[in-house]
Amino acid sequence: MSESGTSAAAPEAAPRITVLGTGYLGATHAICMAVLGFEVLGVDVDQAKLDRLNAGQVPFFEPGLPELLVKALESGKLRFTSDYAEAGAFGDVHFLCVGTPQQSGSNAADLRYVESAITALAPHLARRALVVGKSTVPVGTAARLTGLLNALAPAGEQVELAWNPEFLREGYAVEDTLRPDRLVFGVRSAWAEERLRTVFEPVIEQGSPVVVTDLNTAELVKVAANSFLATKISYINAMAEVCEVAGADVHQLADALSYDTRIGGRFLRPGLGFGGGCLPKDIRAFAHRAEELGVGQAVAFLHEVDAINRRRRSRTVDLVRELAGGSLEGARIAALGAAFKPNSDDIRDAPALDVARMLQEGGAAVRVYDPEAMGNAQRAYPSLEYAQSTLEAARDADVVVLLTEWTEFREIDPEMLGAVVAQRKVVDGRHALDPAAYRAAGWEYRALGRP
Ligand SMILES: NC(=O)c1ccc[n+]([C@@H]2O[C@H](COP(=O)([O-])OP(=O)(O)OC[C@H]3O[C@@H](n4cnc5c(N)ncnc54)[C@H](O)[C@@H]3O)[C@@H](O)[C@H]2O)c1
Repeated sequence: MSESGTSAAAPEAAPRITVLGTGYLGATHAICMAVLGFEVLGVDVDQAKLDRLNAGQVPFFEPGLPELLVKALESGKLRFTSDYAEAGAFGDVHFLCVGTPQQSGSNAADLRYVESAITALAPHLARRALVVGKSTVPVGTAARLTGLLNALAPAGEQVELAWNPEFLREGYAVEDTLRPDRLVFGVRSAWAEERLRTVFEPVIEQGSPVVVTDLNTAELVKVAANSFLATKISYINAMAEVCEVAGADVHQLADALSYDTRIGGRFLRPGLGFGGGCLPKDIRAFAHRAEELGVGQAVAFLHEVDAINRRRRSRTVDLVRELAGGSLEGARIAALGAAFKPNSDDIRDAPALDVARMLQEGGAAVRVYDPEAMGNAQRAYPSLEYAQSTLEAARDADVVVLLTEWTEFREIDPEMLGAVVAQRKVVDGRHALDPAAYRAAGWEYRALGRP
């Protein structure tokens, strides 16, 4: 490829791209690829989602993405459809971005969406094409799907499967797609690598390094990365458990550890732990897959990482109960946050809503507020009470509990918040508030792992 650019100037004779699955990952990928100048067709089975995307509405909260969607649609380079025949005829490179949730009743990944997308696409692949998996899958999946793809595609072995795991973070999805820390190309041929280098040329030109691997390694990179991050979070939360009993302060401990450049401070913030549509299910699926492969012992620690993480939720409930005077029965609780993390409306396996649910089960009246995740939260937990603002949630509360560290919660004035509550008692589930400021305003302040 001779020429490239970053704005509406894809390489000459650029491959046409399809993106199968237009959720958090796929919609972002499709929109960004179109903004980079490629012709892109997004494919999904959810017609309501497609209608919204075609109308210029991003169906989830992601900063910066709505503007890019409008730009991409206006450029004429992006469309969305449910028609796999159209996708097969259109695309030279097909990105697979469907969900791989946890199976119900098992820790394994549910691969039915991946399989159904391949099964739907393959019969329409009549010429040489590259299918590129981005979804997070158990190691060995791509090797297995290659057989399925070749068997079902009219073009047979001319259709190749590669794996390009995705590392984007919700809340920073645009930046992470356009300027990723690294690109991993799991390929079986020089042709597949060349195709991927062409598609990602504008990104590579920005300086993102490329690591070329085989299929199995590419699949493993993703789950290994998420396992490491989850372990780091649970590590500091395990220290918080020790601090609680020993009468030490995990916040200071984490701060002191972070100056060691071998350790670093990122993902070392103690608190309520991780959730979302990735880390919890990915570490479980990885442990499950390792057991299938007979190396379960090697990653058995991931079960402990998961257990530590879950204990943070029940321990947060304990702290609220203590502040409520020993019983949750009839206590009025303001729950600040519902999304699994700030700058997202994603509530999949959200610690915040898990805690809110447990508080309610304990007999408390729980009123939830989140800047962006209210719709999703209300649909998933209709029995909780919802407020339209922080102050409305906090009105007459016996205890305020911070569950997602949105900036608007961090920055609230403790005096102003104190003016509306029944009692100035706060549990800082995310180590996000300033204890000195709260105590100065007469609040009883508690946080996991702090005296
Ligand atoms: N969300 C993230 O931050 C993130 C980051 C990295 C990797 N991933 C991985 O990416 C994958 C997708 O995650 P997500 O968060 O975007 O999920 P999601 O649930 O938001 O999106 C999945 C989409 O796939 C669609 N779909 C299901 N079956 C389909 C089919 N047969 N054909 C076409 N579309 C179909 C669904 O309707 C949905 O729109 C997962 O494997 C996830 O682990 C996600």
